[in-house]
Amino acid sequence: MLEKDILEVLVSEEQIEEIAQRLGNQLSEDYRDKFPLVIGLLKGCIPFMGKLMTRMDIHMEVGFMDVSSYHGGIESSGDIKINKDLGIPVQDRHIILTEDIVDTGRTLKVVMDLLTYRGAKSVEIATLLDKPEGRIVTLEPKYVGTTIPKEFVVGYGLDYEEKYRNLPYVGILKPEVYNK
Ligand code: PRP
Repeated sequence: MLEKDILEVLVSEEQIEEIAQRLGNQLSEDYRDKFPLVIGLLKGCIPFMGKLMTRMDIHMEVGFMDVSSYHGGIESSGDIKINKDLGIPVQDRHIILTEDIVDTGRTLKVVMDLLTYRGAKSVEIATLLDKPEGRIVTLEPKYVGTTIPKEFVVGYGLDYEEKYRNLPYVGILKPEVYNK
């Protein structure tokens, strides 16, 4: 039913599996004996974080934050509102922020700065998708699944008006869906 609204599959289920395996192996190696705190930024993080953590063969703690950026006019202002804070002390912890996508970088920049300010020992980003052409602030995610062009994509956590997050792949939405 959802598939009929998709113009093109950009990252398939098989590719997502490969990405999770690759990044999971890399993270397991880099964070062995560090007991990282893996933080998901709701809601887009859910499917990828879920898969990625099961591909990491090390001890970890998980936590969530819900942040949203205010949108004034057609541009997001970069003002971030924390709807749900972490609730776990981050002092001296190694943190892995998991995301579905990094676009302008504003959300992640604010969260990284906040966690650093609170005393985290290290903060890195693991994201399924990176859209470097969209970047407004300087931000380099260390663990990137795949780079995508400046297209509006949905699925695997990414939504259009809260829908399509549950697609098992990442795809480009047909223009008629958002033009109607
Ligand atoms: C999306 C995405 C990232 C952020 C990326 O979240 O999950 O958190 O935008 O964009 P940026 O790099 O331009 O800041 P959104 O605010 O749409 O909330 P959601 O995860 O609940 O969909």
